[in-house]
Amino acid sequence: MKMAHLVTNCSFSPSPAVKPYARSSGYCCNVAQFQSLKCSNVVLKSCPARPRKAFAARASAVVQGQTGKTQTPLTGNEQASGHSSSRPKKVMVIGGDGYCGWATALHLSNKGYEVAIVDNLVRRLFDHQLGLDSLTPIASIQNRIRRWKSLTGKTIQLYVGDICDFEFLSEAFKSFEPDSAVHFGEQRSAPYSMIDRSRAVFTQHNNVIGTLNVLFAIKEFSEECHLVKLGTMGEYGTPNIDIEEGFITITHNGRTDTLPYPKQASSFYHLSKVHDSHNIAFTCKAWGIRATDLNQGVVYGVRTDETAMHEELSNRFDYDGIFGTALNRFCVQAAVGHPLTVYGKGGQTRGYLDIRDTVQCVELAIANPAKPGEFRVFNQFTEQFSVNELAKLVTAAGAKLGLEVQAKSVPNPRVEAEEHYYNAKHTKLMELGLEPHLLSDSLLDSLLNFAVQYKDRVDAAQIMPNVSWKKMSAKPKTVSV
Ligand SMILES: NC(=O)c1ccc[n+]([C@@H]2O[C@H](COP(=O)([O-])OP(=O)(O)OC[C@H]3O[C@@H](n4cnc5c(N)ncnc54)[C@H](O)[C@@H]3O)[C@@H](O)[C@H]2O)c1
Repeated sequence: MKMAHLVTNCSFSPSPAVKPYARSSGYCCNVAQFQSLKCSNVVLKSCPARPRKAFAARASAVVQGQTGKTQTPLTGNEQASGHSSSRPKKVMVIGGDGYCGWATALHLSNKGYEVAIVDNLVRRLFDHQLGLDSLTPIASIQNRIRRWKSLTGKTIQLYVGDICDFEFLSEAFKSFEPDSAVHFGEQRSAPYSMIDRSRAVFTQHNNVIGTLNVLFAIKEFSEECHLVKLGTMGEYGTPNIDIEEGFITITHNGRTDTLPYPKQASSFYHLSKVHDSHNIAFTCKAWGIRATDLNQGVVYGVRTDETAMHEELSNRFDYDGIFGTALNRFCVQAAVGHPLTVYGKGGQTRGYLDIRDTVQCVELAIANPAKPGEFRVFNQFTEQFSVNELAKLVTAAGAKLGLEVQAKSVPNPRVEAEEHYYNAKHTKLMELGLEPHLLSDSLLDSLLNFAVQYKDRVDAAQIMPNVSWKKMSAKPKTVSV
């Protein structure tokens, strides 16, 4: 059977029949819906079944660096076997229209990987539904990809569809034949998952079933494909002992074992990530899947070398109470003269990283793949800060730019410890060669300047948190004006 499913340069609107908080399937372009979409310039590609091939023979990348010099990085397999092939390594970036995914797709494309984005654009729909917008104007995914091609000559393929639709995902896997699948494609906001029952169910269904489908697609169609899955440091919670990278060795009643590190998630979103990790670990054991779970900290920043090349390549910058993350939010608040919203006592400490390090970490994970059957866990962050520490840093950086910044404690909408011990290990990516961009004064200055540049786009009504963990109910929450 031949299926048409590769879509580029295609524009369409979400179905008006989609409920505000319903599954995304009405919005996406799955195989059945594909025919009815109004696409101005659609490329159709047939996908005959293919025999399975040995990964070691084909997993290599010809890399075009920033300097224009061509290098050929070897994967772990190739380093072990001592030879490489010249075909560019193929990476499927699931969720490649989002904040981390877009920056990563461009970075990998720039480095010479053959990239395909899989995304159902549901994140743009959430923004419409909740009346939110990125601080930075973002171009449509089709225009982003066209602009990238015109600037660099590099093609990024685009599959618009929902990974919860296994038929769609199967066709994408069969057609693209990825060597690695980087999976960013989830509902990623803890507050969103705590709005009401419907959003909690959506989040867990979308994330857990989507990941399960990716695992089945790898098993069925690309068994050598390395899964690089974005998890979160939030899976561990805030235990009163050091946090290890995925596993802890415990001696109990005289016997010793190395076990998965305990998980204490604190929202339905974080719980979906825990469920994902368990499903991935199980399929590594049962089916021999090779997987890396990247327990990522909170990401800040917006520009990478590639997204800075043209305004149509700009990344999204969320500052609202639902999708905005701590430091980015504080920079926007400082830029518009809003007091920095410190939740409760502000002692909440987490791992943070620059978005330029997100793309670097993913590249390192791809270039050094897990072995068949191996479930690896890397803690992906570079520094730890408490909310109060971040507020102090932003206040000081704002003063240098002549901004009067104040921090204000607001009632904490979450259920979490506000003062606690926190010491999380993060050595494995450093051992693979991560060169971190630490949060220096100059970076904060440029982030603040960036926020000031776009401050006329800020909707002050979106700044305060308005989703309470305790007040969540089964009733659909309406958005009042
Ligand atoms: N941003 C952070 O600070 C942060 C921190 C830790 C972990 N992470 C993880 O990194 C990943 C990416 O986060 P982000 O900030 O880029 O999020 P994002 O919301 O900006 O991007 C997610 C993308 O996935 C797509 N998507 C969601 N469900 C999908 C589905 N069923 N099928 C196809 N596409 C789907 C969305 O349309 C969106 O483009 C997430 O898994 C998140 O949990 C992010």
